[in-house]
Amino acid sequence: MLIEAEILSMKVKLKHKEAGIFEETRFEKIHNVIFKNSDLASVAVANEIADLIRQKQSDKKTCVLGLATGSSPIKVYEELVRLHHEEGLSFQNVVTFNLDEYYPMDKDNTQSYWYFMHEHLFDHIDILPENINIPDGSVKTDEVHQFCIDYELKIKEFGGLDFQLLGIGRTGHIGFNEPGSHFNSGTRNITLDHITRMDASSAFLGLDHVPRVAITMGISTIRKAKRIVLMAWGVNKGSVIKDTIEGEVSSEVPATYLQHHNNVTFVLDEGASNKLTRINTPWLVKNCIWDDELTSKAVVWLSELLGKSVLKLTDKDYNNHGMSSLLVEQGSAYNLNIKMFNKLQHTITGWPGGKPNADDTNRPERNSPAVKRVIILARTPMMM
Ligand code: F6R
Repeated sequence: MLIEAEILSMKVKLKHKEAGIFEETRFEKIHNVIFKNSDLASVAVANEIADLIRQKQSDKKTCVLGLATGSSPIKVYEELVRLHHEEGLSFQNVVTFNLDEYYPMDKDNTQSYWYFMHEHLFDHIDILPENINIPDGSVKTDEVHQFCIDYELKIKEFGGLDFQLLGIGRTGHIGFNEPGSHFNSGTRNITLDHITRMDASSAFLGLDHVPRVAITMGISTIRKAKRIVLMAWGVNKGSVIKDTIEGEVSSEVPATYLQHHNNVTFVLDEGASNKLTRINTPWLVKNCIWDDELTSKAVVWLSELLGKSVLKLTDKDYNNHGMSSLLVEQGSAYNLNIKMFNKLQHTITGWPGGKPNADDTNRPERNSPAVKRVIILARTPMMM
C-alpha cells in the first residue's frame, strides 16, 4: 500500500511495471496500484497526465489525450483544473478524444457526455475548442457509420492517443464496449447492456429514460493508445476488477483485453481492490502476520470453501491452502479448530441485544438455561 506522504510529495509515479512479477502478485496479469482512497489516487493520475502535457510542451509537440466520463474521473479533472489555475498548467497543446456518447443525444442535454466534459473540465481550462473531440450523439442515423470512420481517422491523423484514461463498468466494459465486443472493434454504435443502463438509471431519473444505444471508441482504438490508465473506485467494482486482472481474456469481460497491452496500469482504491487474491486471501500468495482478525477470516474462508465445519478441518486442509505457517503458530489443526469454534460460538447469544449483568466468559453459560418464551414465525407455503 502506498503511503499518503509519498503520494502528496509526488514521488509516486504510476509507471507501468510488468504485472505479476512478485510472488504476491503471481495471479495478476495487469499492473495495478492500490491507494488508500480515490482522492489520493486521482491526484496521482492527474499528475501523470500533467507531466505528459508538460513533457510534450517542452518537446513542442501535441499531446493527444483519450478521455472518459462517469463518476471515476471527476476528481482527476478537478485536480487538472486546479493545476491549471494554481500552477499554470496550460492545455494549449492538448487535443482530446472522448471515448463515447449516448445516442441519440443533443450536446446541450445535461445528460450528454459533451455537457459533462465541459462542466467538469473544458470550461475551466485553456484548451482550444477546436481541439476537443467527442462522439456526436446528434448525427443522423444514416450518418453514424461515416462519423465513426472519420473519428478513427482523426485520431490516426494526430498520431494516435498518447494517453487513454478509462473507467470500467460492472459488465467489464471499457468505453461502451459491452460484453461480446471484439478485440479488433473500432469506433461504432452499440447497444448498451441492461446492467449498464441500470447503473445509469438514477442519473436519468429512471431506466426508461436511459438511452439504449451509444457511440463508442472500439477495443482496437483503445488498445492502440501508447499508455492506458484505468481507474476503479469502491467495493461495487471489486468483482469485475478481480475478473479483469486475474481472469482469462474473454469477450465476456472486455476489459480483460487490456492484459495484452504493454503499458497499462490500473489505479484502484481499497474498495475496488478488495477481491484481488493478495488482498482478500493473502495467505494464498504470501507469508502472513496472523493476527486474530486474519486468522478468523482465513479459517471461516477455508471452512466455506471445503464445505466442512470448522471442527472437521485437518492439518492437510490448512497446509494445502496456504496456512501452514498458521498451523506452526497454533501447534495443530486440532488446537486451532477448538479455538476458532469457541470464538465463533461466543458470537452466538440466546439473548439478542445482551443480557444485563451476565458473565458469559464461559460457554455454555450455565447447565440449565433460563426458561424463555419463544415465538416461532413460519410461512406456510401457498396452496395452488
Ligand atoms: C465513460 C465510459 C464508461 C465508464 C464506466 C464507469 O466515458 O466510457 O466506460 O468509464 O461505465 O463509470 P463510472 O466511472 O461512473 O463508474
